[in-house]
Amino acid sequence: MQGQSQAAGGEEADSEVSARKKMFTEVQAEGLEQAQKTVLISYPTGISKRSILQYLSRHGNINSHFFYEGHGPHAMVEFSERESIYSLQDVAQIACCSSVPGIPLKSRLFTLTPRQSLSQALDETSVHNYQHPTIPVEDLVQKLCCADSISNQMYSLLNEYQLTEENIKLRFLACSLIQDIARAYFPECVVKPFGSSVNSFGKLGCDLDMFLDLDEIGRSSTPKKTGAFQVEYHIKRMPSLRTATQKILSVIGDCIANFSPGCTHVQKILDARCPLMRFFHQPTGFQCDLTANNRVALRSSELLYVYGNLDSRVRALVFTIRCWARTHGITSSTSGPWITNFSLTMMILFFLQNRKPPILPTLAELKNLADAEDEHVIRGHDCTFVSNPNKINQTENTETVDVLLNEFFEYFGNFDFSSKSINIREGKEHNKPEPSPLYIQNPFEQARNISANVNQNQLDRFVALTRECAWLLQQDSTGKHQLA
Ligand code: CTP
Ligand code: MG
Repeated sequence: MQGQSQAAGGEEADSEVSARKKMFTEVQAEGLEQAQKTVLISYPTGISKRSILQYLSRHGNINSHFFYEGHGPHAMVEFSERESIYSLQDVAQIACCSSVPGIPLKSRLFTLTPRQSLSQALDETSVHNYQHPTIPVEDLVQKLCCADSISNQMYSLLNEYQLTEENIKLRFLACSLIQDIARAYFPECVVKPFGSSVNSFGKLGCDLDMFLDLDEIGRSSTPKKTGAFQVEYHIKRMPSLRTATQKILSVIGDCIANFSPGCTHVQKILDARCPLMRFFHQPTGFQCDLTANNRVALRSSELLYVYGNLDSRVRALVFTIRCWARTHGITSSTSGPWITNFSLTMMILFFLQNRKPPILPTLAELKNLADAEDEHVIRGHDCTFVSNPNKINQTENTETVDVLLNEFFEYFGNFDFSSKSINIREGKEHNKPEPSPLYIQNPFEQARNISANVNQNQLDRFVALTRECAWLLQQDSTGKHQLA
């Protein structure tokens, strides 16, 4: 659903969400499965794209493909069968360059060079090209100016900035390529995307959060109850889960830095609250954060995905407010005392839970709708909620997104941040348990404030700007006022 072309107006967007909605786990399974059958090919400028496809199809049926300009021209090619990749790997040579020694590694990243010059003259019209994602601001402003209302501008913004189907496929592929490296140490482990890449709120150019899931190891082997003995693997014990996570990320990080083609600027950030490996994946162009033992965050991505797919207004509002916040320096691409996109999204969800009638249900209500397979308790944290968006009733609230935008500014311009906390589990303000300027309760790790980094100055800037914007929007009560 996300990534397909979204209607510019609310009505068509509504018909889109009224179709059967895929579950987060289905999207994940499908994305990971496709990525396993995919290769990434760089090639010199001037080669006919059709001849590349013709050459590759000798190794098997091609399911989908697209071409893009990243660090040079690239083709992403998904085969129908994994065997096609083995066939391609069989004919591929390890690049040798006498002056620079390389480490031989058979990955799914290939470089294609012609034995003799290939014709450019072939018809290229049906070759699928993918524009790498950045819409120049002038073009965006131009598009927004063509929309006849603030609501339509908001849907246009969503349409321009949301992740495309191709971009999402590339994200799954980057995870899958890192998984190949991690599997050298931990066969059967799975590397999954989480955060804004998959939670339905990702904007083109957002980072790629990866989760190294070791719990998948051994999942396929069903314990046999018969026989005189129970067999267990001998494993190395660690003083704490945190130490284990740091060690795992450290070795995988070394592998990524030393052996993984295309990974640059590798940084180990192991002392953070959530230890991570940060690196740039050059072939796909993604800034990546690899974490392990972060299952709660995967579940919160699923929760956001459910909320984002309940009502077409949610994503339009989130994208607009995220864009507004970034433009005004409320959020930032570097870490610091700023409000993060994740915190801002929680504030928007909380606001939508507090409309009359509510546009979004509370987490407690989603928990009441959960059945046995939705039950998740992760390290003692209750992460249970209904995962199937189709089981949740639609709201009767019919407010338009421009009204909601105005009301959002009004609501937070007057919110009592000094004594109240935000909590999407109950959908109600509570007294702050400690004096952080902004307190947004983590929906699952309930004793944790997800905005503990935010200082008073940044919160004051946010409040001042919301008041100013509420005032500006109210100046034009006809709704024809343009955002651009
Ligand atoms: N997360 C969390 N608590 C925080 C920060 C992050 O649980 N204090 C989890 C959330 O699930 C979040 C994910 O980690 O979605 C990734 O964090 P981050 O990259 O900061 O946020 P995104 O939602 O991915 O948004 P962005 O587009 O800014 O990357
Ligand atoms: Mg992110």
